[in-house]
Amino acid sequence: MYNLLKGKRGIIFGALDSNSIAWKVAERAHEEGATFVLTNAPIAMRMGAINKLAEQTNSTVIPADATSMEDLQNLVDKSVEILGGKIDFVLHSIGMSMNVRKGKHYTDSNYDFTHKGFDISALSFHRVMNVLYNSNAMNDWGSIVALSYMAAQRVFPDYNDMADNKAYLESVARSFGYFFGQQNKVRVNTISQSPTPTTAGNGVKGFDGFIAYAEKMSPLGNATALECADYTISLFSDLTKKVTLQNLFHDGGFSNMGVSNPIMENFMSNFENERKEE
Ligand SMILES: NC(=O)c1ccc[n+]([C@@H]2O[C@H](COP(=O)([O-])OP(=O)(O)OC[C@H]3O[C@@H](n4cnc5c(N)ncnc54)[C@H](O)[C@@H]3O)[C@@H](O)[C@H]2O)c1
Repeated sequence: MYNLLKGKRGIIFGALDSNSIAWKVAERAHEEGATFVLTNAPIAMRMGAINKLAEQTNSTVIPADATSMEDLQNLVDKSVEILGGKIDFVLHSIGMSMNVRKGKHYTDSNYDFTHKGFDISALSFHRVMNVLYNSNAMNDWGSIVALSYMAAQRVFPDYNDMADNKAYLESVARSFGYFFGQQNKVRVNTISQSPTPTTAGNGVKGFDGFIAYAEKMSPLGNATALECADYTISLFSDLTKKVTLQNLFHDGGFSNMGVSNPIMENFMSNFENERKEE
């Protein structure tokens, strides 16, 4: 390991179980010498897995519902106290769509579900930065990262209203990132990650197909959760000080592909079969 985060203090949102991207980020941040607070929604605490991660990484767990300003204020105040100083890095790794969960089609959204999903998946990023900014809790040259998906730019029909949530999330990274950069050189970015087998990922309809298709389309194959953690660590480190207001694709090249040979071969063999049947 490289000691990339030696002496740095952080807050990591969203480690639910060992498949979570945030879980891998916590493990890697610990290996790189950081100290941090782990947080998740109070309801997610019931599974108990986060305590295992806390033990493993010598960190404290502070429950916070990312839609509650009161919880977030408490989280930030306590984190500064426990860690013994201002924060250097924050990971927002939170996502949930009620419409997806309840099987509501995009063209027939339940708007109470839409509101709830937006609040949790998108507005929460603004809320987190609001509390950090107004509490002056970030150290100069700190780094804030949220996780996104390419459905913010392109159509993936079954990604449902999460596509709209991710578009907002990426926009907030730019808009808030401006003020954070001005105030104390804090950088704000989103990482647009490959489909990854986690609890949130597996909730998307037809996720197995999603993953297999992206794997065949990407010249480097899909990026794993651990590889995403490595990339996140680089963004928390001092090696990326002038990277801000960006949506950074971490997807094995998928986002710039038109079509790949393996996808075309699959398509043509189906196409030939259909022709024979006619
Ligand atoms: N898995 C994928 O394919 C994929 C791809 C691109 C981006 N992402 C994004 O990565 C991030 C992490 O997701 P993951 O794939 O690791 O899945 P995950 O299910 O492990 O993590 C999602 C987390 O959000 C937390 N959460 C939900 N409601 C909350 C609330 N009210 N307050 C605080 N936390 C709350 C959950 O408890 C959970 O820990 C999400 O933003 C997701 O959209 C995932």
